[in-house]
Amino acid sequence: MDFFDVVENRYSCRAYLDRPVEEEKLEKIMEAARLAPSASNRQEWRFIAVTDSEKRKKLAAIAHDQQFVAEAPVVIAACAVTDNHVMACGQPCYPINVAIALEHVALAATALGLATCWIGAFKEEPAKKLLGVPADVRIVELMALGYPADKLRPKSRLSLDEIFTRQEWQG
Ligand SMILES: Cc1cc2nc3c(=O)[nH]c(=O)nc-3n(C[C@H](O)[C@H](O)[C@H](O)COP(=O)(O)O)c2cc1C
Repeated sequence: MDFFDVVENRYSCRAYLDRPVEEEKLEKIMEAARLAPSASNRQEWRFIAVTDSEKRKKLAAIAHDQQFVAEAPVVIAACAVTDNHVMACGQPCYPINVAIALEHVALAATALGLATCWIGAFKEEPAKKLLGVPADVRIVELMALGYPADKLRPKSRLSLDEIFTRQEWQG
């Protein structure tokens, strides 16, 4: 799939087939995460692929009872080993770095015929306890991954004119 087709075809999938993700595909997807850029090449990201169905059920409960989280054959916990470094621009490093890598996951999965959904609606502390994540490590986001049982929807987005200007801010 051409890059722009991948971008068009990525969507938030909230229904998954009961079909495992092949190990080779999972590794290819995680390799795409590994190659992501990060500020000062900090690579704070660490990823846990959860396939155990009991754990996925518990994650669904922790994720505001979003049932597709239990349905997806893989749930990726995107973690950060971080010293809370803040860049000169004032923005914290680790959520940006982890988010870039996680979107590589979403795009790589799409290119391989899989689907994903970002999951920000979850409680971090119980998720850390469930997955044995140390106290000083953050879980930044979860992501459901699997073969889709639903279809790509038209995207609801602002127009390019509303989000893009040249030379200066236009309010
Ligand atoms: C950081 C982040 C957190 C999100 N959290 C959730 C979530 O908890 N549950 C959910 O169903 N969708 C979640 N989404 C998906 C968004 O709702 C979705 O990306 C947006 O509505 C655009 O739709 P699309 O991804 O299908 O293009 C999240 C997306 C992002 C980027």
